Amino acid sequence: MKKYNVAVVGATGMVGRKMLQVLAERNLPIDNLYLFASARSAGNKVEFMGKEYTVIELTEENVLARKIDIALFSAGGSTSKAFAPVFANNGTLVIDNSSQWRTDPNVPLVVPEVNSHDIDWHNNIIANPNCSTIQAVVALAPLHRKYGIKRIVYSTYQAVSGAGMGGFADLENGVKGEAPKKFPKPIFGNVIPHIDVFLPNGYTKEEEKMMFETRKILGDPDLKITATTVRVPVYYGHSESINIEFKNPITLEGVKECLRNADGVILSEEAEVYHTPLDTANTNPVYVSRVRLDNSVENGLNLWVVADNIRKGAATNAVQIAEKVIAKDNK
Ligand code: A2P
Repeated sequence: MKKYNVAVVGATGMVGRKMLQVLAERNLPIDNLYLFASARSAGNKVEFMGKEYTVIELTEENVLARKIDIALFSAGGSTSKAFAPVFANNGTLVIDNSSQWRTDPNVPLVVPEVNSHDIDWHNNIIANPNCSTIQAVVALAPLHRKYGIKRIVYSTYQAVSGAGMGGFADLENGVKGEAPKKFPKPIFGNVIPHIDVFLPNGYTKEEEKMMFETRKILGDPDLKITATTVRVPVYYGHSESINIEFKNPITLEGVKECLRNADGVILSEEAEVYHTPLDTANTNPVYVSRVRLDNSVENGLNLWVVADNIRKGAATNAVQIAEKVIAKDNK
């Protein structure tokens, strides 16, 4: 198999480090590996599969001096805005974890279990969806195919690691009584119904992302969706209560059969056996439990969906996209 020159941009961050771990675990065919970050960490040493790599400062000159096939980005929206085109125009396929390109109609937004066909069209940028959206659509896509979703109500309980190292530090330091630096209010002993910035309609951008991205990934612009996204004092693992109304009649057994066979899903079929964020820590699947009919509406269903936000919600999904691209390239 052909080997690839791979870059990780934001390699010193929460997601970037996990990307390296997942790349190693899944043994991608890497020839040369380049680790980029800001000037703050340039020169630092990072170990990957028993070899030491020096972090490179992300500058146009440093990018253009290297021949890179695939770049996994997780260094924030403004870095992606400035640098994804530099890589893409230099012949590199960028898989971008920020929200910068997700709404661009020329950029596919991909969850491999759901819409891997969308990697067939791109202009050298593929977007990795928002963490909360990824785990939701892995569970929802097979149900949508089987029964047709009419409306979704998302309520999330999101871990602090979703806000990067700064979010993680706010919880650790909050335990010691220190004031938050990343979040608008203390997160220890609290919950904060505010993720990302507020929009003029009163929703937050995180909520808007879940609504927009679900429609784009499922390829259904008419889906009715609403969302409330909440930060909770959990280090790793996002949890979601998802209420769904279907167009067609459902049965509990039919739903369970669909989820039992769904790619990337671990289903708990027993009412009392449910998953918590700690159960998902450092694993790749999406966990679905508390499957119940919602008899307050026609064809209604409730699900509890939990996943490791740094793995399936970010790093694993990005590496899976790279695997699909490589598989297609080697066909
Ligand atoms: P650095 O460690 O040098 O600051 P997190 O979200 O966990 O805080 O991680 C953000 C990642 O993005 C880090 O690797 C960080 O590098 C990187 N990053 C942030 N700003 C820039 C920038 N302007 N150029 C390159 N990398 C950046």
